[in-house]
Amino acid sequence: MHDVIATPPEGPQLRLPALGFGTWQLHDEECREAVRHALELGYRHLDTARMYRNETAVGAGLRDSGVDRDEVVVVTKVRPGDADRDGVAREVAASLRELDLDHVDLLLLHAPSPVPLEETMAAFAAERDAGRVTHLGVSNFSAEQLDRAAAEVPIGCVQNEYQPGRAPDDALAWCREHGAAYVAYSPLDVRGPVAEVLTEIGRAHERTWAQVALRWLLQQEQVATIPRSSNAQRRAQNLEVFDFTLTDEEMRRIEETA
Ligand SMILES: NC(=O)c1ccc[n+]([C@@H]2O[C@H](COP(=O)([O-])OP(=O)(O)OC[C@H]3O[C@@H](n4cnc5c(N)ncnc54)[C@H](OP(=O)(O)O)[C@@H]3O)[C@@H](O)[C@H]2O)c1
Repeated sequence: MHDVIATPPEGPQLRLPALGFGTWQLHDEECREAVRHALELGYRHLDTARMYRNETAVGAGLRDSGVDRDEVVVVTKVRPGDADRDGVAREVAASLRELDLDHVDLLLLHAPSPVPLEETMAAFAAERDAGRVTHLGVSNFSAEQLDRAAAEVPIGCVQNEYQPGRAPDDALAWCREHGAAYVAYSPLDVRGPVAEVLTEIGRAHERTWAQVALRWLLQQEQVATIPRSSNAQRRAQNLEVFDFTLTDEEMRRIEETA
């Protein structure tokens, strides 16, 4: 597996394993076991959030795995409603307590918030300066919103929805221009005619439509992705996307099918 490397101006370099494990809607023992198994398989990037209410299980799965904590990029997110100065401090403390970690590698604002961005980003910077968070980023942001965030702090990562059948948003071009990593969420939420195209291309490579969808994302510059699966076999399948390559023609065909 390769890393997506983020080099935000005046910020630390972030190496993000290109395929991470998403944990939305996984809870309790199922989540704990899924995270443990994902790490055993070789995933080294875990995506959680305050909103998912599963950080305790994610932390337990990380410990159960026996994988060195420093080998794993742990990402969490602050809810937009908690994005004021006191809220960020309180919620990061809660994340660390529940994950049972002394720092998270990447802290994201989950979505644009009514709290002024200057206040949120200053609170994020304070968490970074205190060593509780290493890298900063945002989620569900447009290029225009990213410009405003990056005026306050170095933005290492943007997490937005992206999958085959969806046109790339302006945040992807922004990431390439500003040295940030772009993490595609809901990579397998594929609808419409592109599903059949993925299946057809998969036949030629002896891969599933889902593997083709993930591969299509990973072959794009600065793009990482975080599929979720509650199923052990599918967790393994989703990782088996680094030993085949889509041709330029296949990449284009998927891109051009809405
Ligand atoms: N920042 C945000 O606002 C935001 C929003 C949404 C998601 N996210 C993050 O992104 C992660 C991924 O997105 P997501 O959870 O929405 O959806 P996803 O990963 O695109 O899709 C998950 C669904 O696909 C199925 N699936 C997984 N692997 C498969 C395979 N190989 N073949 C067929 N089906 C497969 C899963 O079912 P099984 O479990 O039965 O395998 C599940 O129903 C989330 O878990 C979360 O960490 C972030």
